Amino acid sequence: MKVAWAFLALLVGAVNAENPSEKDQLYQDGKTPAVEKIGEDVVPTVDQPKPPGTMINPRDMAVTCSSEQSFFYFFRRRRCANVLDSDVGTYWQNRNGAEESITVDLHGARSISGLVMVPGQNASSFIERHTVAISQDKKSWKEVAYGTWWPDNSEKLTVFQPENAQYLRLTIYQSDGPIAELNIYETEYIPPNPAKGAWGTTVDLPLVPVSGAVDPKSGELVLWASWQYNLYAQYKGGKTQTAIWNPYKRTVTQREVSDTSHDMFCTGIAFEENGNLLVNGGNTGFATSIYNTDSHNWTKGAKMNKDRGYEATTILSNGKIFTIGGSFSDSVAIKDGEVYDVDTNKWTWRHGASGAAIFTNDRDSYRMDNHAWIFGWKNESVFHAGPSQQMNWFGTNGDGTTDDAGVRGTDEDAMCGNAVMFDSGKILSCGGSVDYEKSPATDNAFVITIDEPRMEPSVMKAQNMKYKRTFHTSVVLPDGSVFVEGGQDFGHPFDESDSALEPERFIYNDEDPATSIWEPLQPNTIVRVYHSISLLLQDGTVFTGGGGLCGNCSANHFDGQIFVPPNLLNSDGTPRDRPEIVSVEPPSGTPGDTITVTTKGPIDLSASSLIRYGSATHTVNTDQRRLAVQFSDTDTDNQYTFQIPEEPGVAVPGYYMLYVLDDQGTPSVSKNVQVMSEK
Ligand SMILES: *[C@@H]1O[C@H](CO)[C@@H](O)[C@H](O)[C@H]1NC(C)=O
Ligand SMILES: *[C@@H]1O[C@H](CO)[C@@H](O)[C@H](O)[C@H]1NC(C)=O
Ligand SMILES: *[C@@H]1O[C@H](CO)[C@@H](O)[C@H](O)[C@H]1NC(C)=O
Ligand SMILES: *[C@@H]1O[C@H](CO)[C@@H](O)[C@H](O)[C@H]1NC(C)=O
Repeated sequence: MKVAWAFLALLVGAVNAENPSEKDQLYQDGKTPAVEKIGEDVVPTVDQPKPPGTMINPRDMAVTCSSEQSFFYFFRRRRCANVLDSDVGTYWQNRNGAEESITVDLHGARSISGLVMVPGQNASSFIERHTVAISQDKKSWKEVAYGTWWPDNSEKLTVFQPENAQYLRLTIYQSDGPIAELNIYETEYIPPNPAKGAWGTTVDLPLVPVSGAVDPKSGELVLWASWQYNLYAQYKGGKTQTAIWNPYKRTVTQREVSDTSHDMFCTGIAFEENGNLLVNGGNTGFATSIYNTDSHNWTKGAKMNKDRGYEATTILSNGKIFTIGGSFSDSVAIKDGEVYDVDTNKWTWRHGASGAAIFTNDRDSYRMDNHAWIFGWKNESVFHAGPSQQMNWFGTNGDGTTDDAGVRGTDEDAMCGNAVMFDSGKILSCGGSVDYEKSPATDNAFVITIDEPRMEPSVMKAQNMKYKRTFHTSVVLPDGSVFVEGGQDFGHPFDESDSALEPERFIYNDEDPATSIWEPLQPNTIVRVYHSISLLLQDGTVFTGGGGLCGNCSANHFDGQIFVPPNLLNSDGTPRDRPEIVSVEPPSGTPGDTITVTTKGPIDLSASSLIRYGSATHTVNTDQRRLAVQFSDTDTDNQYTFQIPEEPGVAVPGYYMLYVLDDQGTPSVSKNVQVMSEK
């Protein structure tokens, strides 16, 4: 490699740097001190697992490019075929900035799992927006991945569900610089089985999505990492790397947010009644930021009374926001509840809601009050279901109250397990481990049923999961089943061993709860463990992404992937025809109000549901909740009514996705219903 010697020298210097501030400087510049050797050359890499399987020998493939400068001898180092020569000093020179593509011919069908692309090693080179498609015949193409890579010259990856194909095409839309190397990986094929769902498109992201939420107004995913796109530690930057994925326009845009001087890693998150997203604490312990879903701006909210990171936050029946715990940031202490009034932009103490009540016996004291499983409920109460074995009721009136709600059956502390309200007052808890890390996971599952505040809930031990899981994530689907994805059977952050690649879902039997079952789903190849998230999308599919954010830890996942549940697929794998919601009138109401829904074609009157828009980080999603909805027929064809649950707090305020299902159990795409508090 002859170009950019100065850059190489800088890089090698950095690798050997003993001085931590030099390393920090590299991270702050968006570079990492990690490198890899390709042939004779050293290229910067962002530590991330390579695509699954093995690299296909470049000699077994041929490439063609949409443009080529090879006419003169001088241009030989710019030829298309240079991407296969393991020499980073030669490259394919595309027309910078223009749409360009490179097509790989594998001389026969192979089960392709992903690619590694090395941009030209000019320090200012980058390739951002791209798509990856595969084909058997070079005529019909299937897009398997798209998105936006972080704009620097480090090695880039795309990983997707293995597909049999002879051709792969990488198209780039926004670039400044050539492509030096392109490697393709193959792995064992996973035969489709539509009865178990399917893994769809991969979305490549310019960050590790450790946190995210679905914007109710646009359907976009708002995703964020920390002050750095690949790292949360080292330097608390008072800024956050964010990305917006628009599933309709199929675009990913990157944005650094510094407007609120807030490193929003490891925060509490809650959707406000108006659909704005409140994010509190985290790496910047006292801060509150609010994402405005109309203007798409982040604005500064009031400071909390206590610094918090790893806290839990939820909306209340009155539209106010409650937060508790969180000793990860700044100070380890008993961190009692606080309530945020959206109208006055003010946090006030609720010392009666005891921060000590949520403690687990974690060996790390700063983790004993980690991300509690809290649910806003009737009469301004909050139900606390875990992860401590002990459960509690919090009151938020006056100075607040704490009441013992018993233990979660035979479960122990279930740190980094999941809890999902899959129907009114019915909470599934699953997995977790006694200590946050270095501790075996369980396959435990319980159904906790709550009714009136302060009353002891009933706890039913459910069938165990197929896999022991910690650091997994859960999403309730429109049919009421709970999709559980990822995790590992021993909790070791940033280590991907012992991870589960087969998701499963919990199917509750209302008639005879004891016979509720877990059902295995279609496996994938991308590990999702510590720092991964899952969120339900408006079309009834699930986004699952992330894992890592640990700099040089080799567990970073700069992507998400779509899981398509079985009830969206025909037996041959094609998408089912879906029922359709034509209108929802009025689109908002208060508890007890009647809403009229018009559909296209008949539906199953007893199978509709409202699912509150979710937000997720660190295995918790305090926003999601599903409420089964009973429709009543009207005199008009295909027109039905339903009532928003009468008692405030069952449908806590905020935006919900309304889904209808047909008699085959196929869900519609959702339409919004906004539940407002009575003020
Ligand atoms: C690096 O790339 C920039 C932009 O494409 C170009 O102007 C510059 O000449 C390149 N430098 C080297 C050393 O190739
Ligand atoms: C959003 O923020 C930008 C930059 O701070 C500002 O120019 C714009 O006016 C804001 N838009 C709204 C609707 O607040
Ligand atoms: C609501 O809770 C308060 C205490 O926080 C209690 O005084 C009141 O009776 C409760 N209301 C109902 C309807 O249960
Ligand atoms: C990763 O970074 C940490 C912190 O800078 C350092 O202590 C460690 O040695 C690095 N590990 C590798 C494999 O480079």
